[in-house]
Amino acid sequence: MSAEFDGRFYPLAWNDSYTKKGTQWRGHFDLSGYSEFLDLTGNVLELGSGDGNTASELAKHCLNLVCIDIARSSFETLSMKNSRFGKAVADARNLPFKDNSFKAIFSRHVLTHMIPGDDIAMLAEMKRVLAPKGMALIEVFTPGDMRSGKGQEIFLHTFLRDDGLVWRFYMGQELDDLVRKAGLEVRHFQLLERKVRHDGQIYNRESILMMVSKS
Ligand SMILES: C[S@@+](CC[C@H](N)C(=O)[O-])C[C@H]1O[C@@H](n2cnc3c(N)ncnc32)[C@H](O)[C@@H]1O
Repeated sequence: MSAEFDGRFYPLAWNDSYTKKGTQWRGHFDLSGYSEFLDLTGNVLELGSGDGNTASELAKHCLNLVCIDIARSSFETLSMKNSRFGKAVADARNLPFKDNSFKAIFSRHVLTHMIPGDDIAMLAEMKRVLAPKGMALIEVFTPGDMRSGKGQEIFLHTFLRDDGLVWRFYMGQELDDLVRKAGLEVRHFQLLERKVRHDGQIYNRESILMMVSKS
């Protein structure tokens, strides 16, 4: 592992990432397939909201959406600046919210950037702040995704890139085990696969989408 890698502060590399690149996430998040699981009429939390790609879509459906991200600079990106939802700089591994506060929680590609150990800390926090009968949506990339394998492998399927960002790729059983270990129950498991073309080459996009609840 790199001598500079710090297991506590590594997610702060995201600050530089948004400062240098600004808005960087694209692709439409289609909520319609999951709305049967979710009650968006109460408090809704998005973890790792980044430049607001998912949040902008959620805001159309949620009455009270709160977005948190560890990178302060993420809130300076275009779609976050003047958005209608609540925003806070916070660490998903240690959330500044009371128990049972949210009826729905979204975490798209945040566990993707966590080393082993931090994954379970974040899932335990999700369980703590999720209201009884609440539901959380989790999405992560798998090792079959085109992004896998770039950088130095610091843990299994976990890569540290030159810009300091960690990218982790989960096997289905691994995520299932972690979620259950955190005391959450898996209600829905889906493998999302598609091909994309870049500069005449075909690449795989592959992620797992899970809906989880308190047991
Ligand atoms: C790939 S982006 C996902 C953005 C957003 N969820 C979306 O779907 O458009 C990952 C985000 O997670 C944030 N993040 C990483 N580790 C975090 C942590 N420990 N606590 C809160 N946010 C974190 C990063 O700053 C980054 O904005």
